[in-house]
Amino acid sequence: MYEAFQVGCAQAKMSSDLLLPERILPHLRTQSFGRTIHHHDRAVSTNDLAHQFALAGASEGTLVLAEEQSSGRGRLGRTWASERFSGIYASLILRPEIEPREAPILNLAAAVAVSKGIRDVVRLETDIKWPNDVLVNGHKCCGILTEMSTELDKIQFVIAGIGINVNQMKFPPELENKASSLFLETKRVISRIEVLVSVLKRFEDLYAEFLRKGRSVVLEQWIQRSSYASGKKVIVESGSRRISGITVGLGDDGTLQVKTENGQIETVMSGDLVAWESIVHVTRH
Ligand code: BTN
Repeated sequence: MYEAFQVGCAQAKMSSDLLLPERILPHLRTQSFGRTIHHHDRAVSTNDLAHQFALAGASEGTLVLAEEQSSGRGRLGRTWASERFSGIYASLILRPEIEPREAPILNLAAAVAVSKGIRDVVRLETDIKWPNDVLVNGHKCCGILTEMSTELDKIQFVIAGIGINVNQMKFPPELENKASSLFLETKRVISRIEVLVSVLKRFEDLYAEFLRKGRSVVLEQWIQRSSYASGKKVIVESGSRRISGITVGLGDDGTLQVKTENGQIETVMSGDLVAWESIVHVTRH
């Protein structure tokens, strides 16, 4: 009975936390990220919508938000569970003047920004599983899908799609052991607006630093926040390749370096990681 009352209160609190521009803008501390917001009650995928806005000329920092997605897209062709009012489903349009080969760094930068944003608001430490899953207590609370459009080897735009599990109370059975939400990890209803505003600020700052100083600022911060950067026993599934070994760092371009049993260093550009265990303790700062 009391539990039902608590759930009722939590749900009421969540529905008053709509991601409406007029509720977000007064709290925003950015120059361009999120200064233009397209809010949708329901979207198929905010990344698809952002793509359309970008083609129509939307400026850098334009943000597309939805209260739910009917077909949220994840990495490697997966779907992203996008329950109504519970999570943040956000796609940001970027127009960086960098070479397309440098764009994967934006994946890592987005993950660092989410990790910092969660710490700012929820006071939870996170881990980052390569390339950009943000984990709390080993469970995935955020996924990032970055998509790029190029023309004649020039970036037209990048869409950084960020899904954060904020107030989900449960997950479909197939995700139960893998996914979690900030609510489940803290037993508190968390303001989506506060998390979003903080992530946008952290992302804008790191993005500006990357454009000014180069990739190393992002790589250093990613490495500090990830137990996967080195000393982790992993199996990587990358297309038809299956590599098992120990992580030994990141390449300049954000690729993962894995040392296999025969001592060879394999470079992984994309794929899915299964962690076994850490053999080296990584101190986080
Ligand atoms: C992953 O597989 O980990 C990436 C998930 C990315 C989900 C977000 S939610 C907002 C944006 N719109 C989408 O369709 N996907 C991304």
